[in-house]
Amino acid sequence: MNRSFYIKTYGCQMNDYDSEKMNDILLNNGFTKTNKVENSDVAILNTCHIREKASEKMYSDLGRLSVFKENRIRAGNNMQIIVAGCVAQAEADEILKRSKSVDFVLGPQNFHVLPKILKKTKLEKNFTNFLSEEKFKSFPASNFKGVSRLITIQEGCDKFCSFCVVPYTRGAEFSRPPEDIYAESQDLVNTGASEITLLGQNVSSYKSKIYNKSMEKEVNLSDLCRILSKIKGLKRIRYITSHPNDIKSDLINEHRNNKKLMPFLHLPVQSGSNKILKDMNRKHSREDYIELVNSIRSDIPDIAFSSDFIVAYPGETDQDFEETIDLIQKVKFASSYSFKYSPRPGTKSSLKNENVDERTSTNRLKKIQELLLNQQTNFNDSFIDKTVEVLVSSRAKKNNQFVGRTKHLQPVHFFSSKNVIGKTLKVKINNRTSFSLHGKLLN
Ligand code: 5AD
Ligand code: SF4
Repeated sequence: MNRSFYIKTYGCQMNDYDSEKMNDILLNNGFTKTNKVENSDVAILNTCHIREKASEKMYSDLGRLSVFKENRIRAGNNMQIIVAGCVAQAEADEILKRSKSVDFVLGPQNFHVLPKILKKTKLEKNFTNFLSEEKFKSFPASNFKGVSRLITIQEGCDKFCSFCVVPYTRGAEFSRPPEDIYAESQDLVNTGASEITLLGQNVSSYKSKIYNKSMEKEVNLSDLCRILSKIKGLKRIRYITSHPNDIKSDLINEHRNNKKLMPFLHLPVQSGSNKILKDMNRKHSREDYIELVNSIRSDIPDIAFSSDFIVAYPGETDQDFEETIDLIQKVKFASSYSFKYSPRPGTKSSLKNENVDERTSTNRLKKIQELLLNQQTNFNDSFIDKTVEVLVSSRAKKNNQFVGRTKHLQPVHFFSSKNVIGKTLKVKINNRTSFSLHGKLLN
């Protein structure tokens, strides 16, 4: 009988992509997928290290898995437990020491060894080399189907923001060759995708080379978007995440000229205080950020912005926090993520001892989240009575109900008697709930 596998994914979309690829590798090697972890022959946790909560969750799940493993061994079976992803990269030795039931730790650039390690019984346990090239080369064709698909184009980060583990867990910046990205995108479109989201910790610094008429030519993110937009049947291109310092005029021009490139920019700013930005090593000021947003808006009036914020970074005073609030009020975001600062091992800021107390952190997070939700609601309200273009991704809960997304990523629910999945349709918005728009399909 085929051996079964189970994968749980924590964290960001890059991990979603990696899990999808591990899935493909295992299916291609004769394994079958199961959602019942307690019955699986191979259990994989694809982990996230960005904040303490995410890592802790992994350790508690690992405790449960160890019990399942013991039960299976008692019944004469086995369960190979693999901790993959960013916690594996950062804490390989500690994981192996803390949990004897873990068979392998696999850093985010080592998935290609998966079939090999599962075939052999006795082998080393720790695979945490930075091998981006081998990783991508080893990926088989996708077994998944869907209207909207992810594709990693770049991994790692060279920016070293003081609070962030990414440069340590994902390593130095590495960009995939445009030919490979094109081929993978074409495959996704051939199997039904209409939208692709280009992923990277820092996609705006994507840099690779292409041979054109025997000339070597550099390719950046805007070039790549232009190249990919030539794919017939591909309707929408998105990218995430960008650093403000890497957004240059060529990318904005591409947004202006390339109708497939969606008018939505996730542009993390983290803080609105110049003192904190400096300490975070972000290498831009609040004024730079506001000016950048204003200048992009003057070129692309319908573009929407989202961002990431960290509250209670060490040394953040009430005044610093108010400057973040002020920046949010000035910019007006369509949606955003905000987090309480979490000191991470190995980062520069984890050595600081001016920690903000828990009550203040909680209050600040609550205040910022209320404001961001308010802005999101106002943004969504501005679409009521308007007609939007919706790329339909799936059926929704109710009979004959479908759901899709606008150019600005808002979910839209509507009814249709025909199956319209994969189509781009005009919907007149007449209502909204907290996070979703509702409307009537126009003929
Ligand atoms: N604490 C809290 N939030 C963090 N992020 C990254 N590192 C930390 C940390 N140590 C947030 C940033 C980043 C997002 C992916 O996660 O806002 O943009
Ligand atoms: Fe982390 Fe993003 Fe800063 Fe890179 S740019 S160090 S991924 S927060």
